[in-house]
Amino acid sequence: MTLLAVEGLQTFYGKSHVLREVSFAVPAGEITVLLGRNGAGKTTTLRSVMGLTPPRAGTVRFKDRDITGQPPHRVFRLGVGYVPEGRQIFPHLDVGENLRLAERAAGGGPGWTLERIFEYFPLLRERWRQRGRSLSGGEQQMLAIARALAGNPELLMLDEPSQGLAPRLVRELESILVRLRGEGVTILLVEQNARMALAVSDQVLVLGKGTLVFAGPTAEFHRREPELRGRYLAV
Ligand SMILES: Nc1ncnc2c1ncn2[C@@H]1O[C@H](COP(=O)(O)OP(=O)(O)O)[C@@H](O)[C@H]1O
Ligand SMILES: [Mg+2]
Repeated sequence: MTLLAVEGLQTFYGKSHVLREVSFAVPAGEITVLLGRNGAGKTTTLRSVMGLTPPRAGTVRFKDRDITGQPPHRVFRLGVGYVPEGRQIFPHLDVGENLRLAERAAGGGPGWTLERIFEYFPLLRERWRQRGRSLSGGEQQMLAIARALAGNPELLMLDEPSQGLAPRLVRELESILVRLRGEGVTILLVEQNARMALAVSDQVLVLGKGTLVFAGPTAEFHRREPELRGRYLAV
């Protein structure tokens, strides 16, 4: 089953035409990885889905429902979690307040209770009363993911979550993503760190300059990797 389907996306910043006819599908229950060089349009793709930069043409369908251009809070409420580049947690609020805000925005309900979130991120329980800005980079990244989970997403989109993390934390992040998939969370992962992303991916998408140049299972990506890596990925 396809959870998210994007068709013919055309996204602009002012006159600058960034995404050109981008189409892809994200199957439910899988980890789909979106790779591409700096400036290829990865973040813009996530922003287009989320309604932060609505596309000028094309459609975004989530669970067979047209959500093109819907405002971000609505897309979030429908079950799309988003962990933006650079984390963007609330620095002046403590860990508990960061999580409670997300929980409230999602309208409560069963699913990702704080207890369940702490099973994934035990450190956040210890840091409960600490302000966001006093956390380490790795802890902030974990908080950003925890906050997205508190919204009970069916689809979790993450923008370069491994950025700036120590290798040990990158491996921990990999195992968290795999565990989340095991619990039925569908993941769309944007990464420049291809090694990390390919260690967990089921499906791979590669963006060239604003156009999709590859979509296929990870094994097929590996067969074509020498060519794709040279032309479209950071070496
Ligand atoms: N807010 C913006 N205003 C104008 N141009 C932008 C803006 N954000 C990104 N761009 C441009 O859009 C292109 C794609 O950017 P982005 O989606 O951030 O790429 P990536 O995430 O793959 O590095 C780049 O050329 C970038 O300079
Ligand atoms: Mg980006």
